[in-house]
Amino acid sequence: MNKALVIDDEDVIQDVIKRALRRRGISTREALSLEEAREALDQDYDLVFLDIRLPDGNGLDILPLIRERLPYTPIIVLTAYGTVESAVRALKGGAFDFLEKPFTLKDFEESVKEALKLREVYRENIELKKQLDEIKGFGSLIGKSRKMIEVYEAINRVANTDVTVLIEGESGTGKEMVAREIHKRSGRRGKFVVFHCGNLSPDLVESHLFGHRKGAFTGATEDKRGFIEEAEGGTLLLDDITTLPWETQSKLLRFLETKEFVKLGETRPRKSTARILVASNEPLKRAVEEGKFREDLFYRINVVRIELPPLRERREDIPLFVFHFLEEFSKKHNKKIKGIKEKAMERLMNYHWPGNVRELKNALERAVILTKKEWIDEEDLPEWIVRAKPLSLDKIVLGSKSYKELMEEFERNLILTALQQAGGVQKKAAKLLGMNPSTLSMAMKRLGLK
Ligand SMILES: Nc1ncnc2c1ncn2[C@@H]1O[C@H](COP(=O)(O)OP(=O)(O)OP(=O)(O)O)[C@@H](O)[C@H]1O
Ligand SMILES: [Mg+2]
Repeated sequence: MNKALVIDDEDVIQDVIKRALRRRGISTREALSLEEAREALDQDYDLVFLDIRLPDGNGLDILPLIRERLPYTPIIVLTAYGTVESAVRALKGGAFDFLEKPFTLKDFEESVKEALKLREVYRENIELKKQLDEIKGFGSLIGKSRKMIEVYEAINRVANTDVTVLIEGESGTGKEMVAREIHKRSGRRGKFVVFHCGNLSPDLVESHLFGHRKGAFTGATEDKRGFIEEAEGGTLLLDDITTLPWETQSKLLRFLETKEFVKLGETRPRKSTARILVASNEPLKRAVEEGKFREDLFYRINVVRIELPPLRERREDIPLFVFHFLEEFSKKHNKKIKGIKEKAMERLMNYHWPGNVRELKNALERAVILTKKEWIDEEDLPEWIVRAKPLSLDKIVLGSKSYKELMEEFERNLILTALQQAGGVQKKAAKLLGMNPSTLSMAMKRLGLK
């Protein structure tokens, strides 16, 4: 049951409020002075009414204390007619609304209705925060969707072994984080090293991976340790493995089979106990089919495969990420962010997140930096996220718009979604829609999309 604290010394007011609230199922506690109010603040309330003129002082003096004790309770200030200044002071001090005495029942009801709505938003935020505190995820990984729990189980199974693990998933899904977690739980004393294979020449890749001796090639002015040596006794993550040159792929295969490698400029093989983890944005199998990746190496790597689901397939984790990152970024940027408004959360829940967790994280950091308020709202989110409406019919209010307008809205959303998924490349978007690029271009013009 809801409970309100009414701080007012007038019996009539106490009575009116008590009766009006009772009809809404809200019980009241009376405080007839500042002193009584202070005593009453030992419990939580869903609403607080605060009169300004009280027998033992100004009601606004206790406003900071109420805000501190009950940060998630809307406060409605009651003022005498004509004291606008106090009302402004009250709002600045964090009151939710003010009512001028004598107020009509209609004004009262309206204010209470809005305040209770806000209280509901607060309550949901508190509830979610609590859940977040209970279980966030696994190690530094956030998320408790079924799909992520499967990932955690896989991490547990492989952490203690020497098996090479293939970690696949779209960009920004957390592949590197998973690799780190595997390393952390492996008990290996050595370092965790990441090598981004990224389209380098074979010589350069091999020098990075295996190291080289002074004079091994022009420009090799000193001996250099490779990543495999760096990760001795630890873990080496080979990121974007499909970009590894063909020649290097067979040398990697040899290392995986024998634990031996040859430094550039040397002939005698060396040994390393580095454990290899592999990550890829594109399915490795497809790279094999396209002839970019050696099949024998693929089979050697694909012993254990962990697939990270895209964020849009684990939407239930989005609120956890939101609260986690809001807290992190509030601290980082020295802001007091209390939570997020329902509408904004809805947008985040409905967006399809082509950039996955990284995109969500960036959107939230931006929102924290930009917002001038304590609650993140729609206007703090990037426009493309707010505009990307889900293609669902059940949200449409019939009668509000004409058929033509609704169809255009639908078309616009469809095209925007395709453009987002295509990374903004019109040609690709047209392909996704099974459309001629010039037809798409014309439709975009007609719909006013740039
Ligand atoms: N489950 C998670 N919990 C907390 N943070 C996460 C999670 N997944 C991803 N992140 C964050 O999202 C960002 C991207 O994660 P990461 O670098 O691991 O992704 P990736 O899959 O390796 O991406 P890419 O393919 O672009 O290299 C990082 O800032 C990371 O902290
Ligand atoms: Mg990565």
